Amino acid sequence: MGLLHIDVEAGETQSRPGRDDAPFSRNVLRKQRHWEKQLAARKSKRKEEKQRRKLRCDQESGTKTDNPRFTKRVVKAITKERLAEAQSTGPKLCVDLSMTDCMSNKEISRLAGQLRRLYGSNKKANRPFHLFLTDLREDSRLYKECLRMNDGFVNYVMDITEKSWLDLFPSEDIVYLTPDAEEALERVDVDKVYILGGLVDESIQKKVSYSRARELRVHTARLPIEEYMVKKSNPKNFHSKILAINQVLDILLTFSDRGSWTDALQAWFPRGKGYVIISDEHHPPPVSTTQT
Ligand SMILES: C[S@@+](CC[C@H](N)C(=O)[O-])C[C@H]1O[C@@H](n2cnc3c(N)ncnc32)[C@H](O)[C@@H]1O
Repeated sequence: MGLLHIDVEAGETQSRPGRDDAPFSRNVLRKQRHWEKQLAARKSKRKEEKQRRKLRCDQESGTKTDNPRFTKRVVKAITKERLAEAQSTGPKLCVDLSMTDCMSNKEISRLAGQLRRLYGSNKKANRPFHLFLTDLREDSRLYKECLRMNDGFVNYVMDITEKSWLDLFPSEDIVYLTPDAEEALERVDVDKVYILGGLVDESIQKKVSYSRARELRVHTARLPIEEYMVKKSNPKNFHSKILAINQVLDILLTFSDRGSWTDALQAWFPRGKGYVIISDEHHPPPVSTTQT
C-alpha cells in the first residue's frame, strides 16, 4: 500500500492538467485492482500449499506415528517387510520399458531419475505396490543409467525383467494407464496389473501409450482428473493432464491409502499443470479403494 500511496501523491494525478479533482487516476485504480488480485491469488495459493503440505505430512508420517520411538533400523526393517508383503499380496504396478529405443540420452537420464523417485515413494508408502520393470535389458542405456544414477539400484525390492508384461500376466488382468483413455480409473484393484508407459516426452508424442494398449487389445484407464479437477486460468494458458510416472504412482499410493481421489490429486497433482480441485460441495463421496 505504501508504494501505491507514493504513486498517488507524487505522480500521475498531480502531473495531469484538469485532473486534480480526481482522487485517483485510472492508472492508479488499475494498479490497485491488479495488486488486490495478486494479493487474493497469493492468499489462496498459500492456503492450497498448506493443505498439500498437511496431506503429504500425514501420509509420510504413517510409519513413524505408529510408534515415534522407532529407531532408523526398525523403520528400515518395517519398510522391508512391507515391501516384501506387497510382493505377495499388493496391487501390481509395472513400468513398460519397451519404448525407450526412440528416446534421447537426456530423456533416458530423466527416466532413470523418475524410476528412483518412483521406488522411493513406494518404499515410504503405507500400502506399497508390487513393482515390476519389464523389457529392461542389462545392456540397455536405461539399465546402465539406472546403475550410474540410482544408489543401490541392484538391491531395489522390485521385479526387474527382460520379459514383456505381455508374457507375465493374463491380458484380461491388465489396465494400461494412459492420459488418452476414455475411461477414468475408479479404484485400485489387487487382482489387476496397472501398467505405466516408461516414457519421458520432452517433445510430447501424443497417444503413444494409448496406441500401444489399443494395439495389444488391453483395457485402458486414465486418472480421474476431469472428474475431480477444473482448469485454472494462468498467464500462459497452459493446461496438461500428462504426468511423469512417479507422479502417477504418488497419486495411486495416496488414493490406495486414503480412499479419496480428491486427497490424492490435491496432494500430488503438480500445480504448474494448470488444474485445481473442484470445490468441496461438488466432491463425490470417497469410494472403497481396493477389492480383495
Ligand atoms: C510422461 S507420460 C507419457 C505420455 C505419452 N505421451 C503417452 O502417450 O503415454 C508417462 C506415463 O505415465 C502415465 N500417465 C501420465 N499421465 C497420466 C494420466 N493422466 N492418466 C493415466 N496415466 C498417465 C502413462 O502410463 C504414461 O505413458
